[in-house]
This record gives sequence, structure tokens and C-alpha cells, in this order.
Amino acid sequence: MSTPKPLSGDDSIKTWLEHPVGGPILRDLLAQAGQDADVMRPVQRLAIKRLIKLSKGQFSQEMVDELVARAAAGDVPAGTTVNGSTDAAGTTEPASAGAEASAAAASPAAAAVEVPEWVERLDQGRFAGKTVIVTGAGSGIGRATASRVAREGGRVIAVDVSQERLDEFAGEHAGADIVTLVADITDDAKVAEIVAAAGDRIDGLANIAGIMDDMTPIGELTDAVWQRVFSVNVDGTMKLMRAVVPVMVAQGIGSIVNTASEAALRGSAAGVAYTASKHAVVGLTKSTAFMYGPSGLRVNAVAPGPTITNIEAKFASPLGAERVQLAMTILPDAAEAEALAASITFLLSDDGVNINGVVLASDGGWSAA
Ligand SMILES: NC(=O)c1ccc[n+]([C@@H]2O[C@H](COP(=O)([O-])OP(=O)(O)OC[C@H]3O[C@@H](n4cnc5c(N)ncnc54)[C@H](O)[C@@H]3O)[C@@H](O)[C@H]2O)c1
Repeated sequence: MSTPKPLSGDDSIKTWLEHPVGGPILRDLLAQAGQDADVMRPVQRLAIKRLIKLSKGQFSQEMVDELVARAAAGDVPAGTTVNGSTDAAGTTEPASAGAEASAAAASPAAAAVEVPEWVERLDQGRFAGKTVIVTGAGSGIGRATASRVAREGGRVIAVDVSQERLDEFAGEHAGADIVTLVADITDDAKVAEIVAAAGDRIDGLANIAGIMDDMTPIGELTDAVWQRVFSVNVDGTMKLMRAVVPVMVAQGIGSIVNTASEAALRGSAAGVAYTASKHAVVGLTKSTAFMYGPSGLRVNAVAPGPTITNIEAKFASPLGAERVQLAMTILPDAAEAEALAASITFLLSDDGVNINGVVLASDGGWSAA
């Protein structure tokens, strides 16, 4: 019997779950929290230590240390076995091997090799001398994008409705060139303030602030949900674009990246309000790219797939829940916000020089399914 590889906090959740010792220990911990290992599927490729940040305190460094120590000591819970040998409780079913077998049967390609974890690599100075407005900079994809622009030398006008989130963001980037501005992008006076804060030059606009709907189909849609979702996702995006375009045209250069969604590409990813709003974002993007391409502007959109952020989605409709959850069965692993920031900053930066009017799916291939 070969000795299984020692586990650490840097090993992926998938590696842990498939490990003959680590698997039963992790499953036991999840069971104690009333969870099944299936909840880990969307994040299975991440190193287990990443759960500390993602779980917002539910999973601690001490818990990782304890898992690693228990795995090293072979401290599997009673009732499970290691490599098929019978344990003290007398059972013979190896929990992890069983899970491995069923995973392999369901997805032979996925079980074959461990996909290495993606590591962000900064392109130092890519945004040096550039001023970039980032909305939604307090959380999720906007925060990761604002962070990346700042760490690559740009001056960031970080916009969000939440003072607390912006303060936290700025606190994490001491020494970076960041102006924080509490503003609701649906408010014209605030949009004017954002543009004024940027000053004479605006090289980039990352329109990232956005909200979800409640998954209602048209037959159950309320005016309140429609108006709220359109006001942030469409009106807010439009207002910022309208405000920066004259500055960019005067400069003869500028890059705008809007945030669409998988819901801009298909009808099965959200309710009707969010889906229609994100299709509208694509229209705003393409029209502006076409109109102002000759003036030196590039206007593109990203369509994120599932991404680990603070965005809230509730299911207010049984029909919406049933239909959307059906489509979610082919959902890829959730990405971290930094992976979306990599796509957005690529389009924002001069690396996107020849790209105008595209909707870049950044979704792990979901849109190809
Ligand atoms: N997370 C996903 O899986 C996913 C998938 C597809 C598309 N998106 C899109 O990505 C964008 C970012 O979402 P996220 O997932 O990072 O969400 P998030 O909730 O983590 O962050 C959004 C931020 O925008 C801010 N915001 C909301 N309304 C605002 C307003 N009116 N003015 C200014 N700021 C406002 C919020 O305070 C929040 O800090 C959204 O446009 C969303 O539709 C997200």
C-alpha cells in the first residue's frame, strides 16, 4: 500500500476531497456544519486555504491548521477507512474512494489530472500615467479590477455607494494612487462629481457596478424590480459612458469596459429584468464602439460567468427557480473576482489595442456549452 501524499493548505479542495485520508476528514468537518461535499464543487479548484477569505470568517486559519494536522496524523473519523482497510468501527466502505469512483464515472476527463491553480501576475506599469474610473469598486469584480489597475501603476477613481467598502479597499492599498468617491451611478449630480474627480484626463472607464434581479419571469415581474435593475445596470452604465465620452474624444483615445453577463448571451441565466438589462449593456457597448471607433475610442464588454463576490441573488419565483436551476446544471466552476479583473484590465489597457465592440465571455467556457 503506497503512502498517500501529505496535504497542506495549498492543496486544492478537489485534492483534499479525493485524498484517502483528507477526504473523510474534510467531509466530516462539512457534515458537522450541516453541509455536503457537493457545496464545494464550484470552488473545488481553489487551494483550501482560500476558503478563509471566501467564507468571511466561517472557515478559519485554525480550521485549516487542524485539518492539515489531522491529515498528517491519519486521524480519520470513526466509520471511515483509509485505502480500503477496515477501521476500528468495522466498516469497509472507503468514503473518499467511493466519491472518487462516482466522480470518475460522471466525468472521466475531469478526474484525470489536477488543473493547476491560476496565479495573478502583475504587468508592472501597464496603467502608469493613466486615470481609470472604476464603479462598484467596493466589492467583488469592481474591487479586484480597481486593485489591479492601482497595483499596475494607474490612478484609480474608485466609486461605490458604500463608504465602508471603499474605506476598506483604500486601506488595503496604502501608497497607491486612489481617489475614493461615494456615489450612486444613477444620480446625475454624482456622475458629474465622478468625472470632476478624474480631472482633465480619463483614460479608462470600467463600468462594473450592477445588481441582480429576483429570477422572476415576465409573468411575475414587478415594476419595482424592473425599474431598480434597469436604473443601476442600464441607466447608470449609460450615464457614466455619456459623461466620459466627450473627454475621451477630445483626447483622441480612451477605453471603456462595460460589465454584461452570461445573461447577456442566453435567456437561462437569470430573471427577465436582469437578462434584458444585460442585453441592453451589450447594445450600449456596440453602438458606442461603432460610433466612436474612428475617434480613437474602444468600447467593449465582458460577460462574466459565475464569480465569487458579494452579489445577492434570490429566487422569488418557483418557475424562475426551476427553469434557471435547470440551466445551472452545466455551470462551470466559479471564478474568483481577480480572474474577471484579468479580463477587464486586458480590455481596458493598451493590450486591447485592436479590440473594439466585442462582448468577451469570461466564463470558463460556459457560453460555449
Ligand atoms: N458575480 C457574478 O457571478 C456575476 C456574473 C455575471 C455578471 N456579474 C456582474 O458583475 C458586476 C459586479 O458584480 P459583483 O458580482 O462583483 O457584485 P458585488 O455586489 O460584489 O459588487 C458590486 C458593487 O457595486 C456597488 N453598487 C451597486 N449599486 C451601485 C450604484 N447604484 N452605484 C454605485 N455602486 C453601486 C455595490 O455597493 C457593490 O460594492 C455586476 O454588473 C454584475 O451584474 C456578476
